[in-house]
Amino acid sequence: MARKLAAGNWKMNGTRASLAEAKALADAFPTPSVDIVLCPPTTLVASMATALQGTAVATGGQDCHQNVSGAHTGDTSAELLVDAGASHVILGHSERRADHGETDALVRAKTEAAVAAGLIAVVCVGETLAEREAGETLAVVRAQLQGSLPDAIDAAKIVIAYEPVWAIGTGKVPTLEQIGEVHTDMRAALSDRYGQDAQSLPLLYGGSVKPSNAADIFAVADVDGALVGGASLKAADFSGIVAALQEA
Ligand code: PGA
Repeated sequence: MARKLAAGNWKMNGTRASLAEAKALADAFPTPSVDIVLCPPTTLVASMATALQGTAVATGGQDCHQNVSGAHTGDTSAELLVDAGASHVILGHSERRADHGETDALVRAKTEAAVAAGLIAVVCVGETLAEREAGETLAVVRAQLQGSLPDAIDAAKIVIAYEPVWAIGTGKVPTLEQIGEVHTDMRAALSDRYGQDAQSLPLLYGGSVKPSNAADIFAVADVDGALVGGASLKAADFSGIVAALQEA
């Protein structure tokens, strides 16, 4: 059985005042039966980790550099995230793949760097609308998994997030059958590559998850949680999603 995880991706949103939302979330789930992580902008990682110390809510980054240190102006290494108090990092999000030209090979290098630093890497994959309409979804997702993950993994340190690009921030969600088809295929591909370890890898769905659709999505086979953008910014919204995951 895979661990269950509710992960919030604040993207480029949130100021120090927003830490109150993180604290409210932690207060709502003092002893959750699922893992919870919030990934704020880099400016808030240290202060959020401090604010959430002693709670069940973890803090994560939204990206890291593939190198440990050095002359990389504006970048943040996995080691620096760990030093700031992070335990997780989102890697290969479609916005980074699109905005910064991140390739599967780069995402793989970042994943290796993150795991080496002790972080849990939340590795994102997902097709564009054009790829789905061309019937290429499963092939695209398989190729991204193949290219973005190392050949040897520590299953406790890797999480996969399936996020159809066209469902992110759009309010559009694939049908439950479409989500199930991709998650079943991802589990099969990962089992071929990693054997029994693949069973314990959490497979998250992401893209317009809300309190109102979360329970249905979590009932789909091989969906072990969610990566949530907009609905993770407010504790009241994200709490509904966490609660649905606990009940799934
Ligand atoms: P959304 O974003 O929940 O706002 O659609 C999800 C994500 O990009 O991780």
